[in-house]
Amino acid sequence: MEVFEKLPRVLLPWYRENRRELPWRQDKEPYHVWLSEIMLQQTRVEAVKGYYARFLEALPSIESLANCDDGRLHKLWEGLGYYSRVRNLKKCARVIMESYGGRFPQSYAEVLKLPGIGAYTAGAVCSICFDLPTPAVDGNVLRVIARLTEDATPIDTPAFKTNVRQRLEKVYPQQAGDFTQALMELGATVCGPNKKPDCENCPCRRFCGGALHGTAEKYPVKRPKRQKKEEEMTVFILSCDGKYALQKRPDTGLLASLWQFPNCPGKQELQQALELVQQWGLTPKDILRQTERSHIFTHIRWEMRGIYMEVALPAGEFTWLSAEKIEKEAALPTAFRQFWEEL
Ligand code: ADE
Repeated sequence: MEVFEKLPRVLLPWYRENRRELPWRQDKEPYHVWLSEIMLQQTRVEAVKGYYARFLEALPSIESLANCDDGRLHKLWEGLGYYSRVRNLKKCARVIMESYGGRFPQSYAEVLKLPGIGAYTAGAVCSICFDLPTPAVDGNVLRVIARLTEDATPIDTPAFKTNVRQRLEKVYPQQAGDFTQALMELGATVCGPNKKPDCENCPCRRFCGGALHGTAEKYPVKRPKRQKKEEEMTVFILSCDGKYALQKRPDTGLLASLWQFPNCPGKQELQQALELVQQWGLTPKDILRQTERSHIFTHIRWEMRGIYMEVALPAGEFTWLSAEKIEKEAALPTAFRQFWEEL
């Protein structure tokens, strides 16, 4: 018997006993499952919980999401990163309203056609909500399978993922949703990332190559990471009478349409920084402090010098917002928000 075929019989009972109670496991409403899966891409469960609750409180239906204005939507996502996820979420909600009368489509092929939904998300929604035999292969699942089969193919290659998906498809049980979540759960807990796998407590220990041969920690193998490009910049936290200068970022590219503090390329010395602020039409009154911060994106790393300055008048081509407005309304991504939090 191939190891894949043994998975449902051990994982389903294990999942029933050991599953974590998570907010998105309370029902099988496709909107809820879809939203949680999008949020959970690249983001830890603990970090997602609060965002998930706030998002659904603000936008309880696909219709409300489809009609939400972008500023409010970005604010609900503030700090989660990868903001294109939330723009696609809204795009997708619009398609569901316009083409499916507001009802989430129920076949894998239709779900896969929706904007922002790839094989992983379609597989998760269709198995969890409709019990279709559609695997959802994420990093957790790839790690489990690499250890189970002692497969040294780098897991971050499309070929490995496709191979795992095809082999899993063939062994899917009736309780497809539980099976999908059991695989993810095993990969998130017992067979988790960045820690020694807990093989003694694993339901697969009797047929897992990694557990039987003590090799689990050698897997998964990953391709060597490319060096991230580094960009230096200077960020200006300009204040005047309790208001702060902000700008909207361009509507394409990195952090599109979100707010930012005024900034310029390179780490500027104070003299150059003062001159630049004057060129922006402002009169510096006082330099309050300087600090260095970095922020890591997928392909790039920002090395930032923050300069806090009090200016005479709220002039220049900026939007001057009070602290309260910044807190409540402006989506200020983490790269910039860290300077705000230091205030
Ligand atoms: N990671 C990705 N999807 C998940 C889910 N549905 N539950 C827990 N962790 C996950």
